[in-house]
Amino acid sequence: MITKICCIGAGYVGGPTMAVIAQKCPNIQVTVVDLNVERIQAWNDDNTNNIPIYEPGLPQIVTEVRGENLFFSTEVDKAIDEAQIIFISVNTPTKTYGKGKGMAADLKYIELCARQIAKVAKSDKIVVEKSTLPVRTAEAIKSILDSTGNGVQFQILSNPEFLAEGTAIEDLLNPDRILIGGDTSVEGQKAIQALVDVYSNWVRPEKILTTNVWSSELSKLTANAFLAQRISSINAMSELCEKTGADVNEVAKAIGMDSRIGPKFLKASVGFGGSCFQKDILNLVYIAKSYGLNEVADYWEQVIIMNEHQKNRFSSNIVKTLYNTVADKKIAFLGWAFKKDTNDTRESAAIFVANDLINEQAKIMVYDPKVSRKKILSDLNYLETRMPEENENSIVTFDNPYLTCEKAHAIAILTEWDEFRKYDWQKIYKSMQKPAFIFDGRNILNKAELEEIGFIYRGIGV
Ligand code: NAD
Ligand code: UDX
Repeated sequence: MITKICCIGAGYVGGPTMAVIAQKCPNIQVTVVDLNVERIQAWNDDNTNNIPIYEPGLPQIVTEVRGENLFFSTEVDKAIDEAQIIFISVNTPTKTYGKGKGMAADLKYIELCARQIAKVAKSDKIVVEKSTLPVRTAEAIKSILDSTGNGVQFQILSNPEFLAEGTAIEDLLNPDRILIGGDTSVEGQKAIQALVDVYSNWVRPEKILTTNVWSSELSKLTANAFLAQRISSINAMSELCEKTGADVNEVAKAIGMDSRIGPKFLKASVGFGGSCFQKDILNLVYIAKSYGLNEVADYWEQVIIMNEHQKNRFSSNIVKTLYNTVADKKIAFLGWAFKKDTNDTRESAAIFVANDLINEQAKIMVYDPKVSRKKILSDLNYLETRMPEENENSIVTFDNPYLTCEKAHAIAILTEWDEFRKYDWQKIYKSMQKPAFIFDGRNILNKAELEEIGFIYRGIGV
């Protein structure tokens, strides 16, 4: 019987996933640990609206189970020692140095976890890869864990997470599937069953898929590559639509009604962001190359190339439409997060569009309901395009959308927050410089209505 679970990594995956496990498994004590003291303090904040991740429905669950059977702590060793199942949910970013720089996944945090577990564990453990990892990482983890020679037995499972940010709680409560990969040995199968039993508390058996470890690891990269590929495919079509008078929304609807294609993930946009798609595809490309599979690598790399093009195209379009210069012009950004209902900005298209426009000496006014000025500046500074002071001077942030748009030459919609649809666009129009332009990077506003008001409207693929 599993009674104690530990999760290393209290991030966008570890936090929500463990909160749901704790809620659905009242007999299991779940401890989420992290080296980041500030992050753990925020998870323990008395007011659950201050937890470090904005995710609809999450504060309610944390309120319900925190202090009951869900704990957030920095005592990594203690949690490892006590747990029967240890989830590794640490970040696996793209390497920024050395071999595979800019492509391969940086596995240093994963290796640190494995070494920590090997050092601390005194009883047998099931170690679960929750992080997204290159195929065959379990082999490396196993070799580290088995190196101590102290007789402790480890089983490594791969249990990738498919939640999307902004809908994480819904995705965790009603997953399309739970994927668990494990060793084909008797002990491996026993470990798989232990994890199946945990999920069976709320997930129906037909939704729990068990495979070998390598299939599970590779399925996660494959799923993200396929999802991102759909976006790059529709974005490629959006450019053709703009040249031909076709409307990408109509094209998406028409093809999505084919049950073999399906309607989801066909929204043309300013380009996909988020911490996963680019990182995981680059990793897939790197893996393919490392096996000498150059055609496979080139095929998937095109998804990223198309996405870069879509982001660049959006900023160039703004410059071109504003009479080829945005120098000293005010461009109001509505949205900075990479999608709605999250405070996460990793790889957000907004960062790259802002960077391009600052290169053209524009002034960027930003409003995002969940992203702070500090975060916006640190996102830009991370690109190292210019001195931090220049970014400071080029970005003005607001907590009111109407003030953001006042005297602006153009508005750019970067995130599809629902509230943007409900604004008083007449009022906004009045306060702007004329002609007043809107560049709707998410196709969320009503073109006809805005044109009626007087705006010059530019959507994606329309
Ligand atoms: P994150 O950066 O939000 O969280 C990772 C946490 O791990 C950080 O708080 C960090 O301090 C902590 N950490 C790193 N090394 C540690 C160590 N040795 N000991 C203790 N704590 C440590 O990352 P995330 O978005 O939660 O992603 C985690 C993994 O899940 C990644 O592999 C990612 O690819 C994958 N994933 C992410 C999503 C998503 O939507 N964000 C979805 C599915 C899968
Ligand atoms: C993704 C996967 O969906 C999820 O299964 C995986 O576990 C983690 O990576 P996430 O990045 O959180 O989730 O959000 P997602 O909804 O996939 O959106 C990613 C990006 O694609 C966002 O910038 C979003 O705006 C964009 N997108 C999505 C589009 O441009 N068009 C679409 O049709 C869908």
